[in-house]
Amino acid sequence: MTDTAPHPYDHVLPDSLRHADNFKWTLFGDEVLPMWVADMDFPVAPAIVEALQERLTRSLGYYQLRGDPTLKQLLIGKLERDGFQGLTPEGVAFLPGVVPGLYAAVQALTQPGDEVLTVTPIYPPFLSAVTDLGRVLKTAPLQENRGGWTMDFAALEAAVSSRTKLLMVCHPHNPTGRVWTREELQALADFALKHDLSVVSDELHADLRYADAPEYLPFAAVSSDLSGRIVTLTGPCKAYNTAGLGIGAMVSHNPELITRLEQATHGLMGHPGALSITMWQAALTGGGEWLAETVRYLQSNRDFLSGFLARELPDVPYTPPQATYLAWLDLRAHPRAADIQTFLLEEAKLALNDGVTFGAGSQGFVRLNFATSRTLLQEGLERLTRALKDSSQ
Ligand SMILES: Cc1ncc(COP(=O)(O)O)c(C=O)c1O
Repeated sequence: MTDTAPHPYDHVLPDSLRHADNFKWTLFGDEVLPMWVADMDFPVAPAIVEALQERLTRSLGYYQLRGDPTLKQLLIGKLERDGFQGLTPEGVAFLPGVVPGLYAAVQALTQPGDEVLTVTPIYPPFLSAVTDLGRVLKTAPLQENRGGWTMDFAALEAAVSSRTKLLMVCHPHNPTGRVWTREELQALADFALKHDLSVVSDELHADLRYADAPEYLPFAAVSSDLSGRIVTLTGPCKAYNTAGLGIGAMVSHNPELITRLEQATHGLMGHPGALSITMWQAALTGGGEWLAETVRYLQSNRDFLSGFLARELPDVPYTPPQATYLAWLDLRAHPRAADIQTFLLEEAKLALNDGVTFGAGSQGFVRLNFATSRTLLQEGLERLTRALKDSSQ
């Protein structure tokens, strides 16, 4: 479909979304337009709906205790097509979600009191996994350049010490939407090897890359020297909008690492449910076309947003994301930067994620989720513009 032709997603309306089942649309009042948590406002792929309906005609007993060799093979095949070669079934284990995998990695690969290093801004559970488990959080800010966000290796070197045991990476990166290049990943791999760090790489957003993104390479595929020390986390919930059916996977060329994560959380983790397994199988076997079309729509929303901001709010620093449907907007110059989320809720009736939850240096930023109809996106951007312009008069 062209950019100008009507699209089914153009008809997604608040009345169908504002339902008690929908956290994004009901946390704030009815007058608030929600563009925060990373759910899309689009219906689930027909292939997934059909597979779930069919699955409900059969037993919902303890299926998950068998594991799922079919899903494992499908996932290994998909990761191979992404460039992640050489995985064996022993190097794959399912999780009830990707966040549990972040916690499992911290629990298994470090001891209480050890340091864990990540970059900021970062998806908030990267931070809470470290502090909740009694480890010491070390962060290095990303660098803001004219061309966008980049790794700051001087900052990483300044933050690391002999007590640092784990490096947590988000690729593509939430919230900036960066797809790290081969060169950046190679330098990060060299850094991890130099400092003898284990690595966990959350690649949950990998399938939401835009046509103009740099080539995506799974971090584990960048350097065979890294193979023994890296666990990669993946799952279907961002690409297929299925976060309500928790499931994810941890994969590694080193099955011993997978065993360590399993043992560290044994009895606490739980298994993904039978329906989530059916959902992921259906996504991998029949969801490809839906995903490609959804990414095209998201890319046209991203371009619309970039054009709108350049026209209406040229003083708000922003770099278009290369992947995923999140825009990271710098409102630090605003007089209400210290409580920017509250300001926008009150004055714009717009719910965005508060930058402050993304770690050091992020106060005054907001994260805007543009996975909605073009009409609602435009409405949200108009609300934002009015509130910002009114408050600067
Ligand atoms: C980078 C990243 N990891 C993990 C998650 C959550 O994954 P799950 O719901 O499978 O725990 C999100 C959700 O937005 C995310 O952006």
